Amino acid sequence: MRDQIVAGNWKMNNDQNETQSLLNELKKYNKPEKIRIIVAPAFTQLSQSVDLLKDDIITVAAQNMNLAVSGAHTGEISVNMLKGVGVNLVVLGHSERRSLYHENNLTLAGKVNTALEAGMEIIFCFGEQLEERKSNRHFNVVKEQLSEALFSLSVAAWSQIILAYEPVWAIGTGETASPDQAQEMHAYIRSLIQEHYNENLAQKVSILYGGSVKPGNAEEIFSMQDVDGGLIGGASLNSDDFMAIVNAF
Ligand code: PGA
Repeated sequence: MRDQIVAGNWKMNNDQNETQSLLNELKKYNKPEKIRIIVAPAFTQLSQSVDLLKDDIITVAAQNMNLAVSGAHTGEISVNMLKGVGVNLVVLGHSERRSLYHENNLTLAGKVNTALEAGMEIIFCFGEQLEERKSNRHFNVVKEQLSEALFSLSVAAWSQIILAYEPVWAIGTGETASPDQAQEMHAYIRSLIQEHYNENLAQKVSILYGGSVKPGNAEEIFSMQDVDGGLIGGASLNSDDFMAIVNAF
């Protein structure tokens, strides 16, 4: 049985006070024990979040980290800094990092290695742009993203990897991939892992869907065979909506 996971990507939202009130609201809910629940606050709120959630099952992830372990990288945050504040999980390769901050598959392969060497778990994001889907290149794009960033890893390293398929055209747009479109791509991703590694690993890796998941569509998406949960942006900023999604399995 694969891990079922719902992760909230807060992006550049929630200052100190907002973090405190949202996490305090989330703490009040009864949570299903079989679902892994994750929130990814901004760097400045990580320490506060770890502290607030120390008696809760929700875990804290960072939204990014630098490729280098230390040194002359003004304005950047290293993996050891994250570990130092009790964060052992990092989101890498989000489409906003790729498009706004020019992270490519090669940079991401490096970041994945840095994170793995430090013993971090990774939520690795990838997905095609609208033009790529329209021109029927989405499968090739996803294959390239995974091959270049992840397929040099050992089988053992995959125990630290969670995949998040996020079609860029569905992120923050209100337009969701249909459950069938999500299932089709997730099954394809699993087939790539099987081809490259083996069936056993392909069946073990959790693959989340991300892109305009809301309380109203989560249940249908999560019911698909190869969808193991979601990476949630906008709807993770509201405790009722986020918990409705957690309970949508
Ligand atoms: P969204 O964002 O749920 O607001 O579409 C998803 C994401 O960016 O991870």
